[in-house]
Amino acid sequence: MKQHHHHDVLIIGSGAAGLTLALSLAETARVAVLSKSAINTGSTWYAQGGIAAVLDDQDTVDAHVADTLVAGAGLCHEDAVRFTVENSTSAIEWLIEQGVDFTRESNSDDYHLTQEGGHSHRRIIHSADATGKAVHSTLIDRVQAHPNLEIFENHVALNLITQADSGSRKVRASGAYALNRGNDHVSVFQAKVVVLATGGASKVYLYTSNPDSASGDGIAMAWRAGCRVANMEFNQFHPTCLYHPKAKSFLITEALRGEGAYLKLPNGERFMHRFDERGELAPRDVVARAIDYEIKRLGCDCVYLDISHKSEAFISEHFPTVKARCLEFGIDITQDPIPVVPAAHYTCGGVVVDRNGQTDLENLYAIGETSFTGLHGANRMASNSLLECIVYAQSAALHIKGKIDSVATPADSPKWDESRVTNSDEDVVISHNWDELRRFMWDYVGIVRTHKRLERATHRIKLLQKEIAEYYSNYKVSGDLIELRNLVTVAQLIIRSAMERKESRGLHYSLDHPNLSSIARNTILVPTNFAAQDIIVSAAPE
Ligand code: FAD
Ligand code: SIN
Repeated sequence: MKQHHHHDVLIIGSGAAGLTLALSLAETARVAVLSKSAINTGSTWYAQGGIAAVLDDQDTVDAHVADTLVAGAGLCHEDAVRFTVENSTSAIEWLIEQGVDFTRESNSDDYHLTQEGGHSHRRIIHSADATGKAVHSTLIDRVQAHPNLEIFENHVALNLITQADSGSRKVRASGAYALNRGNDHVSVFQAKVVVLATGGASKVYLYTSNPDSASGDGIAMAWRAGCRVANMEFNQFHPTCLYHPKAKSFLITEALRGEGAYLKLPNGERFMHRFDERGELAPRDVVARAIDYEIKRLGCDCVYLDISHKSEAFISEHFPTVKARCLEFGIDITQDPIPVVPAAHYTCGGVVVDRNGQTDLENLYAIGETSFTGLHGANRMASNSLLECIVYAQSAALHIKGKIDSVATPADSPKWDESRVTNSDEDVVISHNWDELRRFMWDYVGIVRTHKRLERATHRIKLLQKEIAEYYSNYKVSGDLIELRNLVTVAQLIIRSAMERKESRGLHYSLDHPNLSSIARNTILVPTNFAAQDIIVSAAPE
């Protein structure tokens, strides 16, 4: 069995961010891409609405920047927003060159642009209502065809490997340990440069639109390795996930509201205009809180999203995936309103990076949802996320290409030591703790927070951390244990960040601190083993 794998670049994660980076490096480096399950696991595959970009003559970079800043509620880093938006057109051109088939207008060759909450223009390019699948399957085909790119499916990275430069105390990333789910063996992946592209952490909540992979592994691994993590309190809850006992994690795209769908109470009354003059197209935090408020006020299970006033032909052309999935549960969206509830959707915070995706640890990069670039501030605007994946993967690629030849090949690290652990005979500990964690995060650290609830969550997280740390040191690792350990770390970072924010801003809403503070500050958590002692830690948005 092969113990050590050697590559120039190790990319952990095979979503839009990881695969864009792999393709952008393919001509210059030998790259390994790890995916913890099949290559198409991850949120990218499930993205529906589309990708925001300046593509219409009537639209401008300034307008897209301004909308993003408004949604971000004073916490976006304007330079990161401008950088992302200025590169949006070329990012879409690159995807089209790779072969992504975006939807065109029915009567011309122009691309159809849809509308979503917070956007002042139609600027969302899409492939009907399954944009993620169109983008991801295209990138997967390209990656699988390239001889320099080696894919390792069912490999769960569990810890980063760092090495000290000889004669110096400075550490740098040099690889990762990964569990092969096929044979339960832990291998060493050694590389000059390591990239975290592991997606978000929404699985920390009981109800989520995200696939199972979203357990915050990259954030937890970077934190353990000494990297700063920022703004973890800003968890985005998507307002409209299908409410049905058998419909696990199915999102009803915001583009429905963009194309005119109404949110209604069980009695058929529209309610969004009572909360915001933008109605159904208010930013997500506003819509999710309004739905949460109405559900609690009325004691009902869900509210309804209704697009049945549009023609059947229009609905079938623009929303074939939503229509088909709802029909599986007996809901005909051309006739019936769709039962919906909010669910955890996106992690705005993450591993602190610069313009090139470089983290605090030398030779370690983070891109995509796992990173904190400063783009989203206190609330991500719809469809800015896939854009961030492409733009930052490309800037990281340029940076890595510029330095890879000067990075020394790391020495072989020791193989994974299993001499002091045994097989677990109590897997119920994992499943029980898993359920408990996700439930109290939903109840105490959800859409509306209070100091008391956060204190309760802090108390519980301490007990869980202790129990899981003990379990981790005594038993062989498994995929579930690795994820649980990371979820607990990420949950703790979320709770700590939420406790530090004594105001309500964007996605963080506290009944004890309902007002906006006059000073906008990021919540930057610094680990005790901080990797880059020479960085000055600033908490204000640049
Ligand atoms: P992901 O696509 O989540 O990929 C993460 C990868 O990391 C996976 O390959 C996974 O296997 C791997 N991984 C994780 N941990 C490990 C580990 N320990 N070891 C090895 N591999 C690991 N955004 C938009 O901009 N527009 C949209 O229309 C849109 N719609 C969405 C709809 C849904 C239902 C969801 C869930 C999200 C949507 N988003 C949308 C958000 C967007 O899809 C994600 O933010 C984006 O796809 C994240 O891409 P990524 O490459 O960072 O991570
Ligand atoms: C959606 O289609 O509603 C999701 C868009 C996003 O999360 O950006």
